Amino acid sequence: MNTSTTLPSENEQDQAGEAAGPCAMVIFGAAGDLTKRKLVPALFNLVKAKLVPQEFALLGVSADDLSQEAFRAQVTGFLPAEDRGSEAWRWFIERLHYERGNFGDVTTYQELASRLAELDRTQRTGGNYLFYLATAPKFFAAIVQQLGAANLSWQQAGSWRRVVIEKPFGQDLESARTLNRDIKRVLEEDQIYRIDHYLGKETVQNIMVFRFDNAIFEPIWNRRYIDHVQITNAETVGVETRGGYFDLAGSLRDMVPNHMMQLLSLTAMESPVSFQADAVRNEQAKVLRAVQPLDSEDVLTSTVRGQYGPGALGKESLAGYRQEPGVPPESRTETFVALRLNIDNWRWAGVPFYLRTGKRLARRHTEIIIQFKRTPFELFRNAPFHKLHTNTLVIQIQPAEGISLSFGAKIPGALLRVGSVNMSFEYSRYFGTEAYTGYEVLLYDCMIGDATLFQRTDMVEAGWSLVDPVLDVWKAVPPRRFPNYAAGTWGPKEAGELLRRDEREWRTIEP
Ligand SMILES: NC(=O)c1ccc[n+]([C@@H]2O[C@H](COP(=O)([O-])OP(=O)(O)OC[C@H]3O[C@@H](n4cnc5c(N)ncnc54)[C@H](OP(=O)(O)O)[C@@H]3O)[C@@H](O)[C@H]2O)c1
Repeated sequence: MNTSTTLPSENEQDQAGEAAGPCAMVIFGAAGDLTKRKLVPALFNLVKAKLVPQEFALLGVSADDLSQEAFRAQVTGFLPAEDRGSEAWRWFIERLHYERGNFGDVTTYQELASRLAELDRTQRTGGNYLFYLATAPKFFAAIVQQLGAANLSWQQAGSWRRVVIEKPFGQDLESARTLNRDIKRVLEEDQIYRIDHYLGKETVQNIMVFRFDNAIFEPIWNRRYIDHVQITNAETVGVETRGGYFDLAGSLRDMVPNHMMQLLSLTAMESPVSFQADAVRNEQAKVLRAVQPLDSEDVLTSTVRGQYGPGALGKESLAGYRQEPGVPPESRTETFVALRLNIDNWRWAGVPFYLRTGKRLARRHTEIIIQFKRTPFELFRNAPFHKLHTNTLVIQIQPAEGISLSFGAKIPGALLRVGSVNMSFEYSRYFGTEAYTGYEVLLYDCMIGDATLFQRTDMVEAGWSLVDPVLDVWKAVPPRRFPNYAAGTWGPKEAGELLRRDEREWRTIEP
């Protein structure tokens, strides 16, 4: 964007955060994929940013028979090669501990309690424990119940106990309610951190700053000026090694009640009265409750599902979903979903929200499009060249994070020709690129007790309430012609028709 900026100086940016208070973090599933690819690298980035307290310990729990040294060597292997041997690495490695255990075994938790008490003494972690459940969802309720039984969830005066729960949170509304009920037998709501790593992305958090810290957008953020909203989450990857897990879930369960609903609620919510966790989450929950539930007829007309067949991305040939490892050859699981939703409130009545998400699409791309209405009168329609345009605000979340706005402008020359131009802002150009995983801010927030970016019970259940009727109808009416899109394309043609019926189209995502 060609504009002068008042960004914080480097010094101000460095001072942006201070280290969290003393705590011990326990990772259940410390040898798993999530720990390896996300949690350890994110924690280490926090260490380098000096946001992890001096009085810190990480205790890994897993089934593997590892000595403390072997665990430290394993964790070192999860870090970038250039960081191994650094001062930050030494600091981090000294604080790593390991406990071999079985999630279902009472003695594991007794042992854990005495290890944590010892760390309180040796590392001065102050009785503050952050339990991260990086485990298969079937263990969530059981681990929480065991933490309660071992007296590890009880917050005594001056210390805290928090539990981070990974996604997926339930398979449908009923199972999500059951899980909520089970964990709330042991934990208070403010001890529960239901994580959705999308919310750790800068742009997602910036949606709130953009909307509520700029006076110019909020007055036009409504049905008077906005024609519709599109939310796209496109992945080029297939199911990789997780075919067995994904086939039981499908794209609707995997992406919509959590990621997509979070993006929708941040885009559509009213201004919170403060930036406190519950003030923000109250508004998010309110707008989710205002989304019109889909009845059976709506499911048939306002939803699209797809499954990829063989195809290609560039020169690379790609297998179809049914040929992926772990996927049954007759699978009817969807790898693509598109929805049209309406929000029943004064701000959004009559403004459709179109959502689409899928695997093996043409580009990796996540964005929110605010499509503004046309001008009420086309003054320049008789100009010799007049390209019809409307103002589009693009909030791009990945891969490049940024915001752009298109508007009409006169094309230079003697004739009055009108075209569309773009004003755009890219995070990386202004703030530099950081090799962040998205988990950094979320882990730090757990340590300092800020739950703003985590889903509350009512938000999770509101998300599932919207998805449940779709699951029911889709189950009753199996897909007739799967696979219905080739890998490496933009999904089934019905997704385009969903918008064309409303005389709209998905924004073309350029290479
Ligand atoms: N991986 C990702 O990118 C990703 C992304 C988003 C969300 N998630 C969520 O994060 C969670 C963890 O996923 P993941 O991919 O890391 O799973 P994973 O690779 O299967 O890791 C699970 C870990 O738990 C251990 N374990 C399993 N059963 C155990 C038991 N009874 N007692 C003690 N240890 C046991 C496993 O040890 P063994 O290996 O020895 O069995 C492994 O270390 C899941 O809820 C997943 O949905 C993952």
